[in-house]
Amino acid sequence: MSNSMSMIGGAILVLLLAGYIAQQYGLPPPKPKIVGIDLGTTFSSIGIYHAVTGRTTIIADDLGKKSVPSVVAFLSNGSVLVGTRAVDQQEKNPQRTIYDAKRFIGKVFQPDDEQFLKYYFQADKKRYPFTILLDKEGRAYFEIPLDSGNKLLYPEEVGSIIIEYLKEAAEKHVESKLSQAVISVPAEFTEEQRNFTAKAVELAGLEVRRVISEPTAAALAYGLHKKQGIENVVVVDLGGGTLDVSVLWLQGGTFVTQAMAGNNRLGGQDFNNRVQQFLLEKIKNQFGKEITNKEDLQTMRLEIERAKLRLTAHPKTKIQFKLIEIGEWSYEMTRDEFKELNDDLLKSIEQPMEAALQDANLDKEAVDEVVLVGGSTRLPAVRRIAGHFFGKPPNFGVDPELAVVTGAAVQAGVIGGGWPLQVAAMELQTKRRKRHFYTDVESVKKKTEA
Ligand SMILES: *[C@@H]1O[C@H](CO)[C@@H](O)[C@H](O)[C@H]1NC(C)=O
Ligand SMILES: *[C@@H]1O[C@H](CO)[C@@H](O)[C@H](O)[C@H]1NC(C)=O
Repeated sequence: MSNSMSMIGGAILVLLLAGYIAQQYGLPPPKPKIVGIDLGTTFSSIGIYHAVTGRTTIIADDLGKKSVPSVVAFLSNGSVLVGTRAVDQQEKNPQRTIYDAKRFIGKVFQPDDEQFLKYYFQADKKRYPFTILLDKEGRAYFEIPLDSGNKLLYPEEVGSIIIEYLKEAAEKHVESKLSQAVISVPAEFTEEQRNFTAKAVELAGLEVRRVISEPTAAALAYGLHKKQGIENVVVVDLGGGTLDVSVLWLQGGTFVTQAMAGNNRLGGQDFNNRVQQFLLEKIKNQFGKEITNKEDLQTMRLEIERAKLRLTAHPKTKIQFKLIEIGEWSYEMTRDEFKELNDDLLKSIEQPMEAALQDANLDKEAVDEVVLVGGSTRLPAVRRIAGHFFGKPPNFGVDPELAVVTGAAVQAGVIGGGWPLQVAAMELQTKRRKRHFYTDVESVKKKTEA
């Protein structure tokens, strides 16, 4: 024991010295070897941890995007496009443009369970313009028609194409080869889903050093593993279409997931839809006609998304667009009005927070830190709800869309023994079930039509 302690002491001393010498003599810091990767359903990113400074860098691709759309497209001649380039040609090439692959990774659909197939797989199949099939084992794969015949591609292979793209951007940035990775996955992922995600990393030519949960990564991004006196952490992740709440228990640098709850049909898109319904109603009243032109509806969607972002910084904003059907039109919306239109949706954020605490057997008062991640936590109303519910200001400040990849990079730094020394951040797997809540889409529709 004392021997191994002194060995650890020696190792720490060597690291301290290395850091000291590097700082004193301006030696170049060692190149990072391990990357952190967030392979998301809609966006993915990659980051590195800098030994010596302890900072993380999230790396942009050659188009300057740090959040790369998780989209892979094939041209009929077999050429592959990734990210923004794949999105840009999506409308012209829907059958060969694959997105949402993460939803299928490591999942088995029981081919002999008709009910299951009918309600889950068939419903999924209808949602997508590309072809999804099941193999003999009940695993989904994509069939892409090429000039040379059909190309078959499994979800983890789609993931590996995205990871390879990110890896290339990172290698260009650090000017050396990268060989290892830490990858984040949703807390609710089963062992099998984690394995298949790891396989995606390996197919991209990287060795997997660790698979960590997204909420744990978010907590690491805020340095909570180093903070004194923290035991209970709640991570609220509100993205474009889903809400996830996780309760983590932190003990000696180790995170344990205590409870999870979520709503797979609540996110930024829903807030936008409410605003769009409201504006369509206004237009209908003013011009006596319904906007049905697809291009017009898309123009509105894009402007509403931008207006929503402007409202996070300003109390009011002019929503302005030029539509084919009615020409130029604008409406001035206040932040309060936006909030009012989404009042019940915003209120429903509390449901999974309540449930997760209940499942973890925790009082609100026992929560030491609240972490917000996901683009929709930029909305002041969302931050206020979380702050009010837990009775303390939530952590934000790390870009909410990059918090998970930042945490994965921190974990990579810890594993790589980066300077300055970090408390060992670890994570224990749990087999907890997640509780799901659903917003009633029909009532939502009626409300806005009324
Ligand atoms: C496939 O076609 C695209 C554009 O039509 C072209 O840029 C690309 O080089 C072609 N790829 C191959 C492998 O021939
Ligand atoms: C996941 O991978 C580990 C290590 O390779 C293996 O031991 C385990 O059986 C796998 N689990 C599943 C469910 O595939």
